[in-house]
Amino acid sequence: MSEIRAVRGMRDLYGDELALWSAVEEKVKKILQNFGYSEIRTPVLEKKEVFSQTVGEDTDIVEKQMYNVETESEKMVLRPEGTAAFVRAVVEHQLQQTGHPGRYYYYLPMFRHERPQKGRLRQFHQFGAELINDSTPEGDAEIIILLDQIYRSLGINEFEVRINSVGCETCRPTYKEVLKTYFRPHLASLCEQCRKRFERAPMRILDCKGEQCKALAAKAPKISDHLCADCKTHHATLRKRLEQAAVVFRDDPSIVRGLDYYMRTAFEFTSTLLGAQDALCGGGRYNGLSQRFGAKPFPAVGFGLGMERLIMAVEATQSTKAEVKKPQVYLAALGDAARDILIPLAFKLKRQGVRTAMNFDPEKGLKALLKDANRVESRYAVILGEDELKQQTALLKDMVQGSQETIALGSLESELLRRTALAT
Ligand code: HAM
Repeated sequence: MSEIRAVRGMRDLYGDELALWSAVEEKVKKILQNFGYSEIRTPVLEKKEVFSQTVGEDTDIVEKQMYNVETESEKMVLRPEGTAAFVRAVVEHQLQQTGHPGRYYYYLPMFRHERPQKGRLRQFHQFGAELINDSTPEGDAEIIILLDQIYRSLGINEFEVRINSVGCETCRPTYKEVLKTYFRPHLASLCEQCRKRFERAPMRILDCKGEQCKALAAKAPKISDHLCADCKTHHATLRKRLEQAAVVFRDDPSIVRGLDYYMRTAFEFTSTLLGAQDALCGGGRYNGLSQRFGAKPFPAVGFGLGMERLIMAVEATQSTKAEVKKPQVYLAALGDAARDILIPLAFKLKRQGVRTAMNFDPEKGLKALLKDANRVESRYAVILGEDELKQQTALLKDMVQGSQETIALGSLESELLRRTALAT
């Protein structure tokens, strides 16, 4: 039989690694909740058009990265990103109807059929935060400050905040034309991908990683010189709010993002703690997105943060540590009579919240059981054999101190409860 392994680009998580994930997840959720965001969960499967009509025809995600799931009657995809699914849910449940700002966060797996590499998976996990019904630059500032807070509170200080304005429907069309005029004489030196994008999405050339395209993009006209008055003011106020909050950032005209729905603010956090895939997170404003679901427009801004990359940064800085919780008590019963006492005790202790380990296999001898108690690093081991039973006692070993003592069987439970309450 051939070896059956996990799907390429998708990972199993367990043990101490998962314990670290859980600890980090808890911290991130706490900060999101402190900032007033409440959780929303959307299904893994969405109708294809949720993304194809919103994220953009010319984006990598829609062009080639979606996992298709088809039944006889429906064409669905595994969610490649959270924002479009979120907006679908908002419109469906009319969450925007309050007319007041609404703050939501999600923590969900995303699926993109990309070439896997360090920090890039096909199933990855994103924390996302979305602020709806808020069109102010302060809303954008909050989203960026929230991210800054998440990384800093996890001890990650090595990152760069890059912000940009990608304009709006008033000023962007003109800028696109200016860009096309600039790139047109150089079309032949652009990569194939950029040549394809030239007509409909010339701004995407600005974030191409290809050497030639990058060199040309560096000298391209900057959007900051072509923003309309409203976009300019919006950006200036965002800058002011970030400065007031002591968030260090820089304007970077190459931040155009790989998704179509952004307007005005677009941003990314990058870190040298990561490899070539150096984006810790990204996001921006997407005021018009709801219209693509046939709803009235409502303003919104948000971010998506890659959990795998956050964990890489946490591991690099060693700022958070966590491991699987070890048993407090290991019960070793030798013989049927001893099993009849320790097995019910094991369940009783577990019910009372004492981390209790016991191997129920009657064939295991004392040596094997003690070896196992050592392996799982239990704090205490209780041994109940024929000799102890005769004396109506049990042997209690302190595995850390290496000491042992005899305890009356009648007070074994209370003794274990007392000791485990003291030691964790
Ligand atoms: P995105 O830039 O496509 O934005 O993804 C956000 C983050 O998800 C990235 O910065 C990165 O940390 C992580 N990420 C993306 N692809 C992968 C991958 N293949 N493997 C591992 N991590 C990955 C969005 O998805 C937008 N929905 C963000 C947003 C929310 N904009 C507004 N609201």
